[in-house]
Amino acid sequence: MIKVNLTGCNSFVKEAEYKNYLGKALEAYDVLSSEKGAGNDFLGWKTLPVDVDEDIISGCEAVRDDWKARGVDLVIVVGIGGSYLGARCAIEALSHSFVHPAGVPKVVFAGNNLSEDYLAELMDLAAQSNTACVVISKSGTTTEPAVAFRIVKEHIEKTYGKQEASARIVAVTDAARGALKTLSTQEGYRTFVVPDNVGGRFSVLTPVGLLPICLAGFDIRAMLKGAADEREALLQRGEDNAAVQYAAMRNLLHSEYGKAVEILVTYSPKLVYLAEWWKQLYGESEGKDGKGIFPASVTNTADLHSMGQFIQEGSRVMFESVIKVEKATREVVIGSDEQNLDCLNYLAGQRVEHCNAMAQLGVRVAHIDGGVPQIELGIEKIDEFWLGAIFYFFEFACGVSAYVLGVNPFNQPGVEAYKKNMFALLRKPGYEAQTEEILKRI
Ligand code: PA5
Repeated sequence: MIKVNLTGCNSFVKEAEYKNYLGKALEAYDVLSSEKGAGNDFLGWKTLPVDVDEDIISGCEAVRDDWKARGVDLVIVVGIGGSYLGARCAIEALSHSFVHPAGVPKVVFAGNNLSEDYLAELMDLAAQSNTACVVISKSGTTTEPAVAFRIVKEHIEKTYGKQEASARIVAVTDAARGALKTLSTQEGYRTFVVPDNVGGRFSVLTPVGLLPICLAGFDIRAMLKGAADEREALLQRGEDNAAVQYAAMRNLLHSEYGKAVEILVTYSPKLVYLAEWWKQLYGESEGKDGKGIFPASVTNTADLHSMGQFIQEGSRVMFESVIKVEKATREVVIGSDEQNLDCLNYLAGQRVEHCNAMAQLGVRVAHIDGGVPQIELGIEKIDEFWLGAIFYFFEFACGVSAYVLGVNPFNQPGVEAYKKNMFALLRKPGYEAQTEEILKRI
């Protein structure tokens, strides 16, 4: 399963220090396993890979088949944060980068911003498409998705009529509470439940992620299998547990060596949203009480030509965690050229993936020489199974790591601060008292 390689940290840390942090990580592992730590009412994600009801999986497949029968060619998935990033990560990683397959709806996202231009352009696409919508909000009250959904819902109702609209809108929300639940009941939408004991950023293996991923044509059963196999591996307590090792090393680098920034490094544009999902997972779980490692990301080799200079020679505050994909799914071989004006004949007959692998090795040595420790996290390939495995690995390691750091991984109190100000400025009823006060400060 996920392979952790820590040799890129050997020249930075002492063996005894690592052993000490392994001990701390094992204590944190026990807290997570015993379910007695902070936030222990949000641990439903731990058993999702083996708990997910067959009804949920077949329910996702039924929506997919029903919308296919209705000729739907565009699915707008409305959601933000944990109700968005997991699905986007999987769909971006698994989709063909350029060609959209026939017979599968295009899945696009809304409700993750308040950009008017974005929404206007999305509605241009909806106007030319046969459209359906999945609206995802655990609370059912988040402003960004609520605004987007109001606009998408109006379009679907106007275009297909109210009755047909109720078959073209599916909600993923709380089982009993919230405005979205009330609306769904009233309008007769099909609904899927976000379990009470699973927080947004840990919800990719609930219908929050599974439904959009299934609608985009991917195999959610294989994804759950990958997560289940990774869970099985992580159930083995010990110093060779991959999550324990990752948690131990990142906390050691942070606490003893001042490495306050972790850069998740990928070598495929397909994994840009894996990094976005990871940043939310670690940022919201650890960044509190004045603590935490700042999660950043780069996509190489593109970012070697933008961020590479800083990583090589700038402030020495970071370490890298590199997602190492063992094999590409497709093969492209570099040809020979008689004139060789580009002087690339030395690569003739080589696969492009060989160049990518040599770039990774070259960067590894250069960055270590430049003072940047490197953790490697290995997966075999980019497919549903391995994405399931990496989702579960990062979630589990996040729980262990946050407990080593001494914070509650499962709350996000800081997310509320901007909302209060925004509501006051938008003059939401109930926030009148704060409006004048805020206006004076801006
Ligand atoms: O991880 C989290 O809890 C957050 O990122 C939420 O997922 C995000 O704020 C969206 O919340 P909701 O699903 O309630 O609309």
